[in-house]
Amino acid sequence: MALDRDSSQALSTQIYQQLKELILEGALSAGDRLPSTRTMATELGVARATIVETFERLVAEGLLESRVGAGTQVSQALSSRAALADTQLNIHPVASTKLAKALTMASQFGTRLVHKHRPFTTGMPAFDAFPMAQWVRLSGKHLRNARNQMLSYPDPHGYGKLREAIAAHLRVNRGIGCDPQQIFIVSGAQYAFQLIADMLVDPGDKVWFENPGHIGARNCFMLAGADVVAVPVDESGLRVQCGLEKAPSFKLAFVTPSHQQPLGVKMSLERRFGLLKAAEASEAWIIEDDWVGDFCVTDKPLPTLKEMDAGERVIYVGSFSKSVFPSLRLGFILAPLPLVPFFHTSLEAFSPGVPTHVQAIMADFISEGHFATHIRRMRKLYAERYDALETAVGTHLSPWLEVAPTRTGLHTVAYLKCDLDLDTLCGAAAHKGIVLTPISRFCIDPVEQKGIAMGFSAYTPAQIEHAVIELKAILEHASAISIRRTRAHASLQD
Ligand SMILES: Cc1ncc(COP(=O)(O)O)c(C=O)c1O
Repeated sequence: MALDRDSSQALSTQIYQQLKELILEGALSAGDRLPSTRTMATELGVARATIVETFERLVAEGLLESRVGAGTQVSQALSSRAALADTQLNIHPVASTKLAKALTMASQFGTRLVHKHRPFTTGMPAFDAFPMAQWVRLSGKHLRNARNQMLSYPDPHGYGKLREAIAAHLRVNRGIGCDPQQIFIVSGAQYAFQLIADMLVDPGDKVWFENPGHIGARNCFMLAGADVVAVPVDESGLRVQCGLEKAPSFKLAFVTPSHQQPLGVKMSLERRFGLLKAAEASEAWIIEDDWVGDFCVTDKPLPTLKEMDAGERVIYVGSFSKSVFPSLRLGFILAPLPLVPFFHTSLEAFSPGVPTHVQAIMADFISEGHFATHIRRMRKLYAERYDALETAVGTHLSPWLEVAPTRTGLHTVAYLKCDLDLDTLCGAAAHKGIVLTPISRFCIDPVEQKGIAMGFSAYTPAQIEHAVIELKAILEHASAISIRRTRAHASLQD
């Protein structure tokens, strides 16, 4: 046992923690005798009372037992734990009948997309430009004050001031008029999708889903047992007519109209009207995932579906993952009026709530104007970073890739101009620490579009250029191999 006499931690605590670790890790087994308190105190050079106190604490926790005349030993009760550990060494696969169907399904979803902060991971805001000083000031303010409110259980519907601040933000910035009572705070958009699936989707219900589309939302509907209908997407967004042909009667449609995930296109006004009309006819709900709606760079943004929603069919979902930072885990649902009481009931029944102090900080961040300023700055910065990517790809990678003109969001798509295997390319890039995500990762059914999603928002122009030059070397190598293969194939045929 090593004791640090300069540490601020009491010697008894250090001895307690180390003994506990020895027992829990199995270095000391059930029934093992410990030295007497006097011997141990002498060996460790501490007062006997310190050892007595430590033993008493471990006895109280059931890890040691002490009997008169028999000294102190590791509790016999731990032998069953050892037996359990032994059986775990021969782990048998758990039969699927012992697991919920949802878990079996989840294991087929494949690995999560890469979320590391390195070029060209998608969906990463510019951490280097986040106004941390403001955030720290507001955090300090809320953590110091109003303990009873900040430290108690959160309101499952959300913190009132944040609901008000979001309603005001939506009115001014997204053209949406709503009552704060229609807004529910959740821990990120992902929880919103799960909650909505739990509330509205029964097994077998038809859910229109963009193909390619947002993997996280798709998983929620699949887990709820929905019949997920893959509706193709083109340069005008979801092809409503295809949806009607595939599933004329549907329960729910999921769309990302402001910046389609992953293609980055905006849904045209005509398609927006078409979708609202189709939803009216089916009495279906629409989820409008406005995940990067604040980042429309140059042209005037189109009205949101929610703004056009005369029939109260649109459930608008917002997230602060891109506009603030993703570890915040903060998002919200703007419910259509008829669903408000049901969101109340569901959140009371299921929601663990979101930490109140986090909501209070965000409420001030919005109402003191920092949020609007930050978004304005990021729009400019992201436009510069997009331009840097477009220029770098145009300069170095034009034989292979072409960047889709993108004026919204945090990522773009580079389309393949030649015949290359994208999975091989992405694998080779990953070896160099470059993250490329093929569109196929977002697909339910295969699509014709061959391209890769490339995030630009989080990386400086220098980082972007550097990574693009590395990609050039990879692509040159891949092309050389491909040419050699074609020649070899041709000579075999001769
Ligand atoms: C399409 C889409 N919507 C919403 C989100 C935000 O989800 P969350 O708020 O759970 O971070 C993401 C995150 O990447 C996304 O890709």
